[in-house]
Amino acid sequence: MGVSESQGEQGVVLVTGASGYIGSHIVANLLSKGASVRATVRDASDPDRVDHLMEMEIAEGGQLEIVEMDLLDSESVRKAVSGCMQVIHTAAVVVLNSRNPQKKIVDPSVIGTQNVLDAIDSTETVECLVHTSSTAAIRPQKWSDGQVLTTETWADDANIVDNPYGLAKYSAEMLVREWHDSKDSGPRMVTINPCVVLGPPLSRRHLRGSPSFIMMLLKREIPFVIPMHISIVDVRDVAEAHVRALTMGKNAGRYLVVSGQMWWKDVARAIKSENPSLKVPTRQIPYLLSLVVSIFHPRVSLSWARMHLGKRLFWDASPAERDLGMDWRSPKESLLDTIPPILEKNWLR
Ligand SMILES: NC(=O)c1ccc[n+]([C@@H]2O[C@H](COP(=O)([O-])OP(=O)(O)OC[C@H]3O[C@@H](n4cnc5c(N)ncnc54)[C@H](OP(=O)(O)O)[C@@H]3O)[C@@H](O)[C@H]2O)c1
Repeated sequence: MGVSESQGEQGVVLVTGASGYIGSHIVANLLSKGASVRATVRDASDPDRVDHLMEMEIAEGGQLEIVEMDLLDSESVRKAVSGCMQVIHTAAVVVLNSRNPQKKIVDPSVIGTQNVLDAIDSTETVECLVHTSSTAAIRPQKWSDGQVLTTETWADDANIVDNPYGLAKYSAEMLVREWHDSKDSGPRMVTINPCVVLGPPLSRRHLRGSPSFIMMLLKREIPFVIPMHISIVDVRDVAEAHVRALTMGKNAGRYLVVSGQMWWKDVARAIKSENPSLKVPTRQIPYLLSLVVSIFHPRVSLSWARMHLGKRLFWDASPAERDLGMDWRSPKESLLDTIPPILEKNWLR
């Protein structure tokens, strides 16, 4: 769905951030449907960024072109977008914290997305933009245990100190929506808002993003787990939702893609029970101790930990089921399918 059999003749689909975890699966999905894909990477000479793309199976009529593009280099963005019929914009920096959050996290998302929008405006060929947003663009700072969030909510209180990633994702999605609203007859636009994405990594680089908390367990970087309730969606389902959104769903639609939740200790137990030889920590430490631990973790902040630990948050993904026809792999299946490529390719070393 989302790409017709004659897509190859119909036009080129640009996928920004194609070396990334989600972008790579979108490219694989499109190629399996015979689409013509232009895939952007920052460094086409890096095997970890491109080898897995070049090995992907291409169905009849499809083709893959890999181009270099940096979101902060507007000319490279303009060249990448030029002549494409559909744009799937996944590229962003997926890091929760940094010493220079404006430069390292917010600017690539916001300036980069503005560059993509300007590039679309400078060519007459683009008919549809699918923008990868996030639950981080939806989740406000304060929420209560057990709450269900929908796409009616915005992370409009995100700020550079406490939640730079949320600020980046919220600001980029707002830019896309304001740009779309300002046009009487512009391209179709849809945002896809995933939660934590799991499922098979296709490159070692993919382990640095959302699967990194699984890597922490597999490498025993910490000898315990913290009381974290995690909303999970499968990377293959996220890719499918993006591809379907090219032709399905409402114009200006905002689609949460979430399959379910697991506590981190249940994640650890599921991995251990499926892989008894792995020495995965399963003991959960109390809430207060886990706040102390989070202070020393390089990727999370104390404020993030206080917002999230020990609490359950749910998401309404029914619009994606209704409008995009999505059904979801279970969180446990996504989790367990993350592990075999890591073991087979020796990525634990
Ligand atoms: N993974 C999740 O759990 C999750 C959840 C919700 C939303 N998302 C969103 O999904 C999108 C993809 O995330 P992901 O998990 O696939 O992350 P990822 O594996 O880190 O991929 C990010 C991609 O963006 C590219 N990129 C970063 N900075 C760039 C720049 N300045 N110019 C051009 N490309 C740049 C990266 O290129 P390099 O390979 O060169 O670094 C990479 O291809 C992001 O928009 C993210 O916010 C992810």
